[in-house]
Amino acid sequence: MVTAAEWVAARLRGVGATDVEVAPTALHPIVYGRIHEAAGAPTVLVYCHYDVQPVDPIDLWETSPFDPFLRDGRFVGRGVADDKGQLVMHLSAIEALRAAGRAPAVNLTFVFEGEEEYGSDSLYAWIEENKPRLAADVAVISDTGYFEGNVPAITVGLRGIMYAQIDVVLSPVDLHSGGYGGTVENPANALARIIAALKGPDGRVRIPGFYDDVVVLTPAEREALAALPFDDEAYRAEIPVTALVGETGWTTLERRGARPTLDVNGMWSGFQGEGAKTIIPAHAHAKVSTRLVANQDPHKVFASLRDYVAEVASPGVTVTTTYIHGGEPSLTPMDHPATQAAARSLRAIHGVDPVYIREGGSIPVTSAFDHALGLPVVLLGFAQPSCNAHAPNEWFSIENFEAGTRVIVRLWDELADLHR
Ligand code: BES
Ligand code: MN
Ligand code: MN
Repeated sequence: MVTAAEWVAARLRGVGATDVEVAPTALHPIVYGRIHEAAGAPTVLVYCHYDVQPVDPIDLWETSPFDPFLRDGRFVGRGVADDKGQLVMHLSAIEALRAAGRAPAVNLTFVFEGEEEYGSDSLYAWIEENKPRLAADVAVISDTGYFEGNVPAITVGLRGIMYAQIDVVLSPVDLHSGGYGGTVENPANALARIIAALKGPDGRVRIPGFYDDVVVLTPAEREALAALPFDDEAYRAEIPVTALVGETGWTTLERRGARPTLDVNGMWSGFQGEGAKTIIPAHAHAKVSTRLVANQDPHKVFASLRDYVAEVASPGVTVTTTYIHGGEPSLTPMDHPATQAAARSLRAIHGVDPVYIREGGSIPVTSAFDHALGLPVVLLGFAQPSCNAHAPNEWFSIENFEAGTRVIVRLWDELADLHR
């Protein structure tokens, strides 16, 4: 992580950034730098992240994930889309301007994070301590992408997240299932009952109070989502899965972008080798996360989960629920002048107006830029939805890289024009 941060810092210096710093935190460093060469013009806070998700299962990669390569017009490697590639696009945009003998038409302050994929805890604290250095007029986050293949898009909604672990412990070691089967609680069975209690077959989360703070879509918002060029069947077939399943009463796009949900991300217990082993497992575990929408609060949702798990837990085992990380949901207004400047930039390069979308993923810092720094946020990213983010063989097309870099260059001009 330190090597990656130093690499980013060196590249920033290379494009003429000043005050470049690799700021240590409790976990991974934050890379800061600024290009303030446009006196009187507005200042833009540019955010990307240089951390990535784990690469496993490694055997499904066509190459080593950290040795990116080019195939059929695509870069393949961990982070090429999410989000190292997009970070590099911002550096390339400056290089292109410099090559043309120009400086960015706005003042740019760069914040490149190393902990986005882990909840951004260190960044929250760092923002509080560095507010004066982060003063800006608008924040631009490039960590999202196009809609349905290659439709230019501006993301106006992101879901929040609350990630937890449930541990069920019976005994210090496994027990003989002949000697103890039927006489003690089995932690794997107990965990299965807990998981089953969390969500119904109707897709509704059963945690009491879970939906209390959910802002329900207005009829106009539902109409706007329904008008997007989205094909359920294409979305299904792309993955591919046998059917799309979720909370009843809502469309696929509504469920993905504007409804909260709960998923098991991993479960493990007992014997997993080949063949058979007759044991009562000593313990059982699950990683569970919720995707949240405005105005749900990750800490409040954790407290409800913890209390509910304790309530439905069987006697005879010790059950603990631990908070791992979280981030708030965000909704940004479509009609802000900066958002409209981004829309004009996309139009200028792609020749069509962008669509406005709500993504199901999370970028924890978005709400901090909004709440802690009071900045309007523009979510302008360039990955395609099928880019295998977080999965083997993540890719990013050269075409999107080039078009996106042009959009970025154009955006700096459009934002400067707003203040002329
Ligand atoms: N770039 C994604 C967020 C995203 C996902 C935007 C899908 C648009 C569409 C981001 O890097 C991400 O994966 N965030 C994590 C956050 C978490 C680990 C705190 C996520 O959503 O799982
Ligand atoms: Mn990302
Ligand atoms: Mn990610």
